[in-house]
Amino acid sequence: MTQAGDFRQSFERLVRERAKYLAEIAGICPEHGAYTRGQALDTGGRCPTCWEREKKRREREQRLALFAERSGVPLRFQAHTLADFVPPTPAAGKTLAAIQAYAEDFPVHGKAGRCIVMAGRTGTGKTMLACAVCRHIALSHGALCRYATAYHIVRDIKDTYGGNGSEREIVRGYVEPALLVVDEVGVQYGTDTEKLLLFEVLNGRYENMKPTIVISNLEPAGIGDYLGDRVMDRLMDNGGAVLVFDWQSHRGRK
Ligand SMILES: Nc1ncnc2c1ncn2[C@@H]1O[C@H](COP(=O)(O)OP(=O)(O)OP(=O)(O)O)[C@@H](O)[C@H]1O
Ligand SMILES: [Mg+2]
Ligand SMILES: [Zn+2]
Repeated sequence: MTQAGDFRQSFERLVRERAKYLAEIAGICPEHGAYTRGQALDTGGRCPTCWEREKKRREREQRLALFAERSGVPLRFQAHTLADFVPPTPAAGKTLAAIQAYAEDFPVHGKAGRCIVMAGRTGTGKTMLACAVCRHIALSHGALCRYATAYHIVRDIKDTYGGNGSEREIVRGYVEPALLVVDEVGVQYGTDTEKLLLFEVLNGRYENMKPTIVISNLEPAGIGDYLGDRVMDRLMDNGGAVLVFDWQSHRGRK
């Protein structure tokens, strides 16, 4: 036998032995039964089904922690899910369905930079639903979402004018997240500077094909007046939707 033939034989024997070794039972999980060494290669010898479940649980915990720490979603709204919204009218049911579809198909809508404007009365669940969308996206897609009031955004940028931090950095922090919720639009007087700064953020997102949810107590036309046609145009581009919340306030209900 040649040296090369010798080598091939011992190599083939090694491969066979390894296959046999990997096919042997590595352990028996009380819940999922027996598993082989091969199945437990990446799990440190533990049951692969238990290991996978534990991995998912840890991932969910990490995503929730990131959501709690970095999204800016107020504590009051962090635990709410879309399922917690009980539609008080058929119109509210349709609005919920549209928002649910948006959250579930976020990879598609997000890629298209598709925006939502939530307009309407106080206490109708706008903030709750927008935050629940952020939670859903953070958990299901592991994407970073950010929530802020218009006031907060403007103040955050203006705070850099004293020389601490750069305006560009702050704007980037609002442009980068997979989804931005801008709440309470139109609450303030709306100086030219404020409008300009909001334009900076919303246009930055538009240019980068990043979706935004804008929330306001104003009528849709009022939001257009407040933000300006150029911003409204961008929000409505590529299938953006205006959702009007015109049912009774949920606050103060027992
Ligand atoms: N349909 C609903 N089902 C369950 N809870 C609701 C519903 N609508 C509102 N809520 C609850 O009522 C409270 C008010 O809702 P939320 O703050 O989302 O209203 P809003 O539309 O943002 O009001 P505002 O315009 O004053 O900011 C929240 O605690 C929210 O969780
Ligand atoms: Mg609100
Ligand atoms: Zn198991």
